[in-house]
Amino acid sequence: MYRFFRPIFFIFSPEPIHRIIMLMLGALKFIPWGRRVVKKCCTYRHKSLEVTVFGIDFPNPVGLAAGFDKNAALTDELACLGFGYVEVGSVTPLAQRGNPRPRCFRLPKDMAIINRMGFNNRGVEAVAANLRKRNPKLVVGANIGKNTLTPNDKAPDDYEKCFVALYPHADYFVVNVSCPNVSSLRELQDSARLTEIVRRLTAFRALQPQRKPILLKLSPDLTPAQIDEALEVVAGEGLDGVVAANTTTCRDGLQSTRGKVDGIGNGGLSGAPLTQRALEMVRYISGKMQGKLPIIGVGGIMAPQDALNMLQAGASLVQVYTGFIYQGPGFAKKICREIAKKQPSKL
Ligand SMILES: Cc1cc2nc3c(=O)[nH]c(=O)nc-3n(C[C@H](O)[C@H](O)[C@H](O)COP(=O)(O)O)c2cc1C
Repeated sequence: MYRFFRPIFFIFSPEPIHRIIMLMLGALKFIPWGRRVVKKCCTYRHKSLEVTVFGIDFPNPVGLAAGFDKNAALTDELACLGFGYVEVGSVTPLAQRGNPRPRCFRLPKDMAIINRMGFNNRGVEAVAANLRKRNPKLVVGANIGKNTLTPNDKAPDDYEKCFVALYPHADYFVVNVSCPNVSSLRELQDSARLTEIVRRLTAFRALQPQRKPILLKLSPDLTPAQIDEALEVVAGEGLDGVVAANTTTCRDGLQSTRGKVDGIGNGGLSGAPLTQRALEMVRYISGKMQGKLPIIGVGGIMAPQDALNMLQAGASLVQVYTGFIYQGPGFAKKICREIAKKQPSKL
């Protein structure tokens, strides 16, 4: 069915289509039984899919990656599409428009997307208000960032503001210091700066009655030495896991013409060109941490086999974004069915 609609969707540029899809999903709650029917059609339930990771029970290990629902406007509706959890954001303390348009581009020949959205979102208060209304049974992660105008030496304040405001409303948190579309953000992956940010969050968490997991999202462009440094912070500061990986600035091996790719300009590349790199990163981290650190594997999961490979490489959970755009609303279900067939415990 989606195969029929996709060429029509792809006539238009990605942002307007994203908005239309969000409107259509939002309209589901006004249709009697709308969400229930969609959930029935798009969800694959099986006991073997249930997992407990960093103390949270997930109905299945397939999540929607950050960036799709930046404002937590439609978490319940997105969960109806078969996802075991939804990560919202990236959220910043203040609302911001992000980079000038156009800022999101498809590369169909590569099954990829290049985006330079730049953390467009309605700000942490609006996101907290949306999360307050969500179905509490659904697992929701909050991906937090800093405002573009906040200098890096003030970045810890921004991350802390988001964390504090969202703490009662999300189940886990992701510190995003790996987005290539906010200038100098990735410099925050440096050990000293990262430690400063993370300590603010763990200090606040220590005072709360409930301990919620904090994960670090890494760039696929880090060298092994830089990954090691980041992992030292994760282990040393008592973080609960990592998300590997964000989008890449690398443009190697693309099938799209040089003219097209150069014409698009800066931005983070996601989708099929990232599959191998993200998988290698998950395998590397899992080996380095002897399988003891929970990893969310994300990047280039375009088919169920890619998700299985991630789990086999050491990920406890996976996420999709670009694969969801190319494969459509049945994608999470397809992945879940394949995982259930292979029985994760026997992977
Ligand atoms: C349009 C777009 C917007 C994104 N926005 C965010 C974001 O705000 N925060 C974040 O951590 N990752 C963001 N991402 C990265 C995804 O969460 C994911 O890490 C990356 O796309 C790799 O997965 P994929 O190949 O399945 O798309 C975005 C990706 C895309 C394509």
